[in-house]
Amino acid sequence: MKLLSVTVTVILVNFISTSLSISCNFPPDLWCSSKEIAELCKVTEQCAANSWDVKSDGPLVNFTLYYESLCPDCKRFFVEQLYPAYQAVGKIMNLTIVPYGNAEETKDGDLWKYNCQHGPNECVGNLIDTCAIYYMMQPEYFPFIHCMEKSSLDPITAAKKCGPIFGAPVDRILECANSSFGNRLEHEMAVKTDALQPQHQYVPWVTLNGVHTERLEKEAEADLTKLICKTYQGSVKPAACKKFEKPDSKRCHK
Ligand SMILES: *[C@@H]1O[C@H](CO)[C@@H](O)[C@H](O)[C@H]1NC(C)=O
Ligand SMILES: *[C@@H]1O[C@H](CO)[C@@H](O)[C@H](O)[C@H]1NC(C)=O
Ligand SMILES: *[C@@H]1O[C@H](CO)[C@@H](O)[C@H](O)[C@H]1NC(C)=O
Repeated sequence: MKLLSVTVTVILVNFISTSLSISCNFPPDLWCSSKEIAELCKVTEQCAANSWDVKSDGPLVNFTLYYESLCPDCKRFFVEQLYPAYQAVGKIMNLTIVPYGNAEETKDGDLWKYNCQHGPNECVGNLIDTCAIYYMMQPEYFPFIHCMEKSSLDPITAAKKCGPIFGAPVDRILECANSSFGNRLEHEMAVKTDALQPQHQYVPWVTLNGVHTERLEKEAEADLTKLICKTYQGSVKPAACKKFEKPDSKRCHK
């Protein structure tokens, strides 16, 4: 019964957000992020070279980010690497984000009590992200969470500010973040984080096709788009990968 009502709610939320977004109220750097948004913003032709136009022919590169909402290095990674990479080569990525990081949990009756590295507000931020992931689809929740990571406001204020820009159901998300349902969703993030092999030593902590090494972490932090391009096995790579190919064509061979 609970599952049914949740499913109905998700469908309803999607229906409402689809039927309401008849005008282009996305910031320009998002216009090419999906075919639907491009059509809405009347820039389909201008975006034609974008990655959603390329039929990917290989398995998607699994990329997972383990992070906590207020950690400055996570914010930097999100804004400087993950967001641009998702814009450029999101089509060939299977992106998962896990908001929990270095938090700790203890059982408290039927619920879990969270203790977060950067204080109680960070726990609120993690819960908001977790609920957004639950209630929204990735093309919308990702820019919403990016907007919050970019913000220096407290998580609730940031959610209220970022929500309307990305069609996030903010009231529902905040309600979830304060409910036993949200509390259990966050526990799933804790379980995913604690299941890491090897165990994470810091955040941001990334896995590429399920693997974490210090070298991969460094490459992701230096140029994530390049790392995704290099890892992707398909023969047709997105346009954004071209610049990482061997520059043979730019040389005058004898
Ligand atoms: C994407 O990643 C999730 C785990 O984060 C996995 O369950 C799912 O099978 C992956 N999908 C593809 C197409 O690789
Ligand atoms: C949860 O409820 C309390 C008490 O009403 C409120 O102070 C707090 O801001 C709420 N948190 C969220 C995430 O909405
Ligand atoms: C991505 O993860 C899924 C689910 O674990 C797996 O089936 C798939 O093979 C992975 N893709 C790659 C390229 O490793």
